[in-house]
Amino acid sequence: MRVLVVGSGGREHALCWALSASPLLDKLWCAPGNPGTAAVADNVPIGATDVVGLAAFARDNRVDLVLPGPEAPLVAGLADALDAVGIACCGPTAAAAQLEGSKSFMKEVCEAAGIPTARWERFDDPEAAKEFIRRRGTPIVVKADGLAAGKGVVVAGSEAEALAAVEAMMESRALGAAGASVLIEECLEGEEVSLFALCDGAHALPLGAAQDHKRVGEGDTGPNTGGMGAYSPPPRFTEAMQEEAMARIVRPALAEMARRGTPFRGILFAGLMLTADGPVLIEFNVRFGDPECQALMPRLMSDLLPALVAACDGELADFDLRWHPAPSIAVVMAAKGYPGEPVRGSEIVGIERAASVPGVQVFQAGTELAPDGRLLAAGGRVLTVCATAPTLRTARDAAYAGVKAITWPEGFYREDIGWRALSR
Ligand code: AMP
Ligand code: GLY
Repeated sequence: MRVLVVGSGGREHALCWALSASPLLDKLWCAPGNPGTAAVADNVPIGATDVVGLAAFARDNRVDLVLPGPEAPLVAGLADALDAVGIACCGPTAAAAQLEGSKSFMKEVCEAAGIPTARWERFDDPEAAKEFIRRRGTPIVVKADGLAAGKGVVVAGSEAEALAAVEAMMESRALGAAGASVLIEECLEGEEVSLFALCDGAHALPLGAAQDHKRVGEGDTGPNTGGMGAYSPPPRFTEAMQEEAMARIVRPALAEMARRGTPFRGILFAGLMLTADGPVLIEFNVRFGDPECQALMPRLMSDLLPALVAACDGELADFDLRWHPAPSIAVVMAAKGYPGEPVRGSEIVGIERAASVPGVQVFQAGTELAPDGRLLAAGGRVLTVCATAPTLRTARDAAYAGVKAITWPEGFYREDIGWRALSR
């Protein structure tokens, strides 16, 4: 098979790495990729949101299957453009990608399907939103309705913070059109878990769960990021809880999307809050998480490619995947300044040394090669150092041994990835 992965992050490197082990694979491309994906795939200089360019490349190169990593090309209609030229895409159509692209759409699907989620109200008028916040009190959550690359949510502990979020999103348009309308939500309490399911429009195959670390600082402090680390499986999220989440959240969403005539195909990411009343949906994403994907892929024993094909062919009903029981942990190394403006151009040395630690894999994200071959930082999240081992503690120790083998003074990482599970 000839496969194209779309994206350039650690998630896409992990997906290329997993796919490159498939005996069914003839050719693997990554667009645009990074120096890490170049080791297992041919990088193609087409941007991840260039839907027209990607579809033309896939057609001209007789690609059999496209796997988009990020949400933006899906929301922009990549799956539709590929369908128009007869190429399978393991990701939803633009209509189905609205599960992530519009928070009010996702809430409407939840209401129609009876999916447990935070109570919410949508506002187009900032004054009405502020009035609602004053009446409701805090804590309260303010969310931009549209796609905001992870920057669209403010969990406000004070009224002033919530009102400022409404002003920034709706009045100053800090997030552009994404903040033209906002959702104001009840604040859920509990521990968060990311659950992944591969979907074929009618059936969902669980891909396991991971716990992300969204805040930049140790002890879950400081601003939100795309994710500073993850581990899998989260020990508190039992098999029974996963089945409950599949039964009450994932499968009803699939059924409702099919009923609407926009069946969901691809990877459904359910962001869950484990509340006293069981798992409650925070949000849906229409793709793998980053860095959750980097924690999951090393645990996958089965070949990923036939599962993706089965999802595209509507044949997941009897499909099964096998996973290593051993846990994994993923530590993100970011450039100083992230999640603000990261310092670019600093040199990274020692990836091979890190990868030679038993059980360790290093996935690249914001990296680039200098003309003289040195590896340089070129983005916010730059590397994910992952390890699998018989226990989470030994996996953690191996991952940090990998991190310490890397010489990169301009980078930083959290020392406490996995702390919730490890402190139990
Ligand atoms: P989202 O982009 O919707 O995943 O939100 C980003 C983060 O904000 C989530 O991972 C949660 O930590 C937090 N969050 C979002 N909605 C809520 C909510 N209703 N209650 C508590 N925390 C929330
Ligand atoms: N790590 C969370 C996400 O990918 O959205």
